[in-house]
Amino acid sequence: MSKKAKAEIWDKLAAHQKKLKNTHMRDMFAEDPVRFRKFSIDTGAVLLAYSKNIITEKTRTLLLDLLAASDFEKMRAAMFSGARINVTEDRAVLHTALRNVAETPVMLDGKDVMDDVKSVWEKMQNFSEAVESGAWAGFSGEKITDIVHIGIGGSALGADMAIDALKNFHVAKLSCHFVTNVDAIEICDVMRRLNPETTLFLIASKSFTTQETMANAQAARDWIVKHYEGDTAAVTRHFVALSTNKKAVTAFGIDAENMFPFRDWVGGRFSMWSAIGLSVCLMIGFKNFKLLLEGAYDADRHFEKAPPEENIPVMLALVGLWYRNFWDAPCYSVAPYASRLKKFPLWLQQVDMESNGKYVDIHGKTCKNATGPIVFGYPGTDAQHSYFQLMHQGTDMIPADFIGAVKSDHTVDSQHRMLLANMLAQAEALMTGQDSPDEPARFFPGNRPTNTLLVDALTPYTLGWLMAVYEHKIFVQGMIWEINSFDQFGVELGKVLADKILAEAEKGKAGKHDNSTTELFARCFKTS
Ligand code: F6P
Repeated sequence: MSKKAKAEIWDKLAAHQKKLKNTHMRDMFAEDPVRFRKFSIDTGAVLLAYSKNIITEKTRTLLLDLLAASDFEKMRAAMFSGARINVTEDRAVLHTALRNVAETPVMLDGKDVMDDVKSVWEKMQNFSEAVESGAWAGFSGEKITDIVHIGIGGSALGADMAIDALKNFHVAKLSCHFVTNVDAIEICDVMRRLNPETTLFLIASKSFTTQETMANAQAARDWIVKHYEGDTAAVTRHFVALSTNKKAVTAFGIDAENMFPFRDWVGGRFSMWSAIGLSVCLMIGFKNFKLLLEGAYDADRHFEKAPPEENIPVMLALVGLWYRNFWDAPCYSVAPYASRLKKFPLWLQQVDMESNGKYVDIHGKTCKNATGPIVFGYPGTDAQHSYFQLMHQGTDMIPADFIGAVKSDHTVDSQHRMLLANMLAQAEALMTGQDSPDEPARFFPGNRPTNTLLVDALTPYTLGWLMAVYEHKIFVQGMIWEINSFDQFGVELGKVLADKILAEAEKGKAGKHDNSTTELFARCFKTS
């Protein structure tokens, strides 16, 4: 469809918003007893209930028109088929191949990428079983008791979140620790608490050049080598690498045999599905890891095949875009009503904000409309005692996603009922609001939108589903905004400047900077 047609639909949505501006969801519900059914999608694995949004059937039709005008079907097919849709880096975007449990061919440059994917699965399975059984032991022959995943950003957030989320599925008697920040307190804490002879380091870095990861990996390597009185042969038993950069991995002293590879068509923030997920695999066992992939695979098929109006990632994307572009909502909140999902908002923050935090479109032009929202969140009910006040009575509209599981992951049923009651109550309160003619401070405007995503229970399979739903949601929004959701040049400039300032700090003399940076440099590095 033409640019003009898309612009016309955009204008129609803006006009439609003006008409809806003073409509209250309370009235929409009063007028329509089957509103829930009209605005929900139940796939069996995940239910998306989106009736508590300021939308009508006309809104949905217009949003779906906008989707159609954005070449959705063509773009979706391009992603799944390995087209180089990451145009600025000239790369395919094939994280979906990593969870293609049906093992159907996925061709890239005349080669089926599934050959590599399957061989890495096999390697991950053999390795996790060997660590579990003790067949893989430390240099002194001691069984591994602790794994330390060293990585940052996409090379840590997904794995860290999934390991926490799936605590009930841990099979290994291992403890897992994450070291991400260049702040050495993290690696020092690990070295202080753990026994080098029973510790295995997983160095997770796509590039194997990231400052934070390499500094922490080097500190860990020194600790191991020192413990074995300078014997560098110990490195091969206490380190494995999850990376695309074989040269740098072997230069570090890790045997190529102990490298779990992946390819440049796996974006960092989508890499938990690749060898980067080895820590997850070690903790929950390969069988459960495969179920996690299977959940994401089924979500991929849903995204690929379900008609747009019955497609969870699509509707989540369109409703999100409705608020971002037509209601000036700068952010959205995600509150999982499941403590095990405490790190889900942190994972989502990177996937969404690193993907769609873009100012320039794929045509090289400044974006005319707002793009990626600010994402934040915390589990309910904790969040209710924190930032929910602003969601209820603040001056901004903050759309929210609530995520809940019908079955609990414990046996205290009464508390699970409390948890779910709170989730429903918050969505109801945000929607209905409260009149308070006598006490203005107790007035709640209501009309504040929420989506509820419900799974039967939090399992590897449903977690895989949920993660893939959000990944695809973000893709759909980026596609409509015509931005490249798969590069991340925004993280580069700060990295370059940090290297420059570090070199100056080591010399004890600041280079040319603005006055503020110069003064702060003097205080930080005591050069004056
Ligand atoms: O933050 C930028 C980024 O490139 C992320 O996309 C990536 O996940 C992270 O850094 C880590 O990079 P690497 O895996 O190469 O160490």
